[in-house]
Amino acid sequence: MMGHAIMRQNTFMRGGGAAFLFVLIFLWILTFKRPSIPAVPGSWQPSSAQLEVAQSPVVQDGIKRASPPSNLGSYPKITLTEPADDNIRDIQNSTLGFQKIFILSMPNRSDKRDALTLSAYLTGLDVEFIDGVNGSLVSEKAYPQPWKQDEPAGTIGCWRGHMEIYQKMVREKISTAMIMEDDVDWDVMIKAQMTEFARGTRYLQKSVSPTHSPYGDGWDILSTGHCGIWNKVREDQDYWVSENDPTVVVPIQREWWRKPNLTPPALAGDRSRVVMSPYQLSCLASYAVSLRGAARIIYDQAILPNAQGIDSGLGAICKRHEYGFNSCLAAYPMITGVHRPAGDMTRESDRKTLRTGRVREKAQSDNLMFPVRMNLGSLLLGDTVVKAQWPDHAMVQELDTRTYELPRGRGVFVRGDEYIKDVPEEEQKVLTDTAQVEKKAVTETEEKKAEE
Ligand SMILES: *[C@@H]1O[C@H](CO)[C@@H](O)[C@H](O)[C@H]1NC(C)=O
Ligand SMILES: *[C@@H]1O[C@H](CO)[C@@H](O)[C@H](O)[C@H]1NC(C)=O
Ligand SMILES: *[C@@H]1O[C@H](CO)[C@@H](O)[C@H](O)[C@H]1NC(C)=O
Repeated sequence: MMGHAIMRQNTFMRGGGAAFLFVLIFLWILTFKRPSIPAVPGSWQPSSAQLEVAQSPVVQDGIKRASPPSNLGSYPKITLTEPADDNIRDIQNSTLGFQKIFILSMPNRSDKRDALTLSAYLTGLDVEFIDGVNGSLVSEKAYPQPWKQDEPAGTIGCWRGHMEIYQKMVREKISTAMIMEDDVDWDVMIKAQMTEFARGTRYLQKSVSPTHSPYGDGWDILSTGHCGIWNKVREDQDYWVSENDPTVVVPIQREWWRKPNLTPPALAGDRSRVVMSPYQLSCLASYAVSLRGAARIIYDQAILPNAQGIDSGLGAICKRHEYGFNSCLAAYPMITGVHRPAGDMTRESDRKTLRTGRVREKAQSDNLMFPVRMNLGSLLLGDTVVKAQWPDHAMVQELDTRTYELPRGRGVFVRGDEYIKDVPEEEQKVLTDTAQVEKKAVTETEEKKAEE
């Protein structure tokens, strides 16, 4: 050991002159002004948090202070081919290109708020919690038209909670908001997914730049986190299709019952995500509403005698296409998922009273391939490589958010006669008959309720 060190020292002495010169050159290089990050046309723009890291220390009152350390978390690589002044860039901001992100949750459930706050931080999002409403505290006199005393408190509270947000949007003129329920989880690639979703919504609305919203201006409701949708079959219409998307769960993992008819060849593909005008939808784990949409929903679900469980209510609005075929748009499969923590299963819902005594062994996030909640530990270590939740069903087992890019989609036009019958004949028949569709939806909802 000793001999080795001496030998190294001798080598250093002999090369001393060269080393000294080298140090001088190195010091001279250090005096160069640090170049600012070059703006690569069309490529991903670093977030302001990341730019801060690259800035030189600030000297104020003679004291040098460095910028805050880099934010942790995942910021997916996104290549934009849209013009440099296109507001599609706003989707990478902390509210996904909406004016606000609201999460509806009971103030009581600090556990859920803790976890959601962490997920939002690690994906560069700013969320605002809105207190959920305890249905048993809503005055019966305030019930919308068709509801009577026997309406379940859970349904009332949930309806009221979402209505409070629409009311806030109309009062405060909030032009667009994404609304999430508190069991939501999302993919580490959310900003890339939403950028691609926006390409789809723009295409379907035939948006012409400039628009106010990066998602186009013709929509009232954008459904990103449902638990199933139908499409309108046998009618000519446009779709947006992204094939081979690794964030899409494969058909055998799709446990929801409401499924669109994707038999036209252009819509097929186990890993395709399709943006479409939904003909009925269920669940509101996450969705966006425009100011105009919020006003229309209040009218429909609080003034007119149309109130239903709020998700069915919105589904019915979409189905009527009263405000235009593309006033409701949805991604299928859904972009966001639902997190189910390990432990006592009664914690999973504040809307329903679940049977006690059931315990979930392992946490899971339904309908997501790279859930933030399942990667919190590694994201907190500063890791950008995230693992697929179900490697057996994954197109890629892990991805590095810094380098992995989601595929680009394309618009397709499907003729009404392209919907073929690989859907069981029974279902096909039902799908074409509106009255039956209604009946089926009601029975299945009742069955689901009974199960719960
Ligand atoms: C994000 O972009 C949207 C759309 O342009 C905008 O309304 C919103 O204010 C932006 N959010 C933030 C935090 O800058
Ligand atoms: C908190 O939630 C529990 C059960 O979910 C309920 O019994 C209790 O009344 C709630 N407390 C408040 C202050 O809302
Ligand atoms: C809702 O309010 C009722 C009546 O005050 C109370 O008994 C119940 O625990 C509350 N539920 C929640 C979830 O806060």
